Amino acid sequence: MSLVLEDVGVRYGGVDALRGIALDVERERVLGLIGPNGAGKTTLVNATTGLAPLASGTIALDGKRIDGLPPHRIARAGIARTYQNIRLFGALDVHANLAAGAFGRPGRLTADELRSLLEWAGIPHVDPKARAGALPYGDQRRLEIARALAARPSVLMLDEPAAGMNPSETKHLVDTIRAIAMSGIAVLLIEHDMTLVRAACDTLVVLNFGVAIARGTPSEVARDPVVVEAYLGSGAESLA
Ligand SMILES: Nc1ncnc2c1ncn2[C@@H]1O[C@H](COP(=O)(O)OP(=O)(O)O)[C@@H](O)[C@H]1O
Ligand SMILES: [Mg+2]
Repeated sequence: MSLVLEDVGVRYGGVDALRGIALDVERERVLGLIGPNGAGKTTLVNATTGLAPLASGTIALDGKRIDGLPPHRIARAGIARTYQNIRLFGALDVHANLAAGAFGRPGRLTADELRSLLEWAGIPHVDPKARAGALPYGDQRRLEIARALAARPSVLMLDEPAAGMNPSETKHLVDTIRAIAMSGIAVLLIEHDMTLVRAACDTLVVLNFGVAIARGTPSEVARDPVVVEAYLGSGAESLA
């Protein structure tokens, strides 16, 4: 199972948000997507999930083209995501949020599965009857991951899942992300925290102004002068 992007381009008005992007996200692997704000990271997730139309290129899941399909068909094909800004159903309870994540896949969400999703996402203490919007911020971030997992995806795209988390929450997130990948899911992780990126990712792709400027293992990327200049600066130490 893998997600393959070839020559992907996205244009907003006259501006290229992405140009010539090639990516391969494999099962049991975590691919990190890093780069400055505005580099096109979220656009890449939007393009893959059907929210941004492609100006060029192809996207295939397990050899089958998914580009051009509507978002619900792409979700059903096995791609789930979280959002940079939390998009839970805040007025609904935890159970309803997870049931919404399970909508469209075969089989209903059972009580046992609900428990194991919360556990998997690292929030076993959360009450299924609690209102999602009333949970502490870090738990809301993790509930979003649980909701994405409820779809039983083969690919999970995480858009800055640690944003707003404290250092200890961020550290625990590494274990969660690795466990998700080890369960057989292909994970794409967008993240600015280089300590998290180094611990969680097998390989990295660096975007800058919509173009992939480097790829490799975290330590290879940390040594790349172009990446240090464009993005990492002194942050390269955390990645090395
Ligand atoms: N819906 C949109 N309409 C117009 N421009 C957009 C839209 N979404 C993103 N952009 C532009 O595309 C570029 C990449 O944005 P984004 O993918 O959000 O970057 P990142 O996630 O790396 O910070 C930015 O210049 C941004 O302003
Ligand atoms: Mg973004």
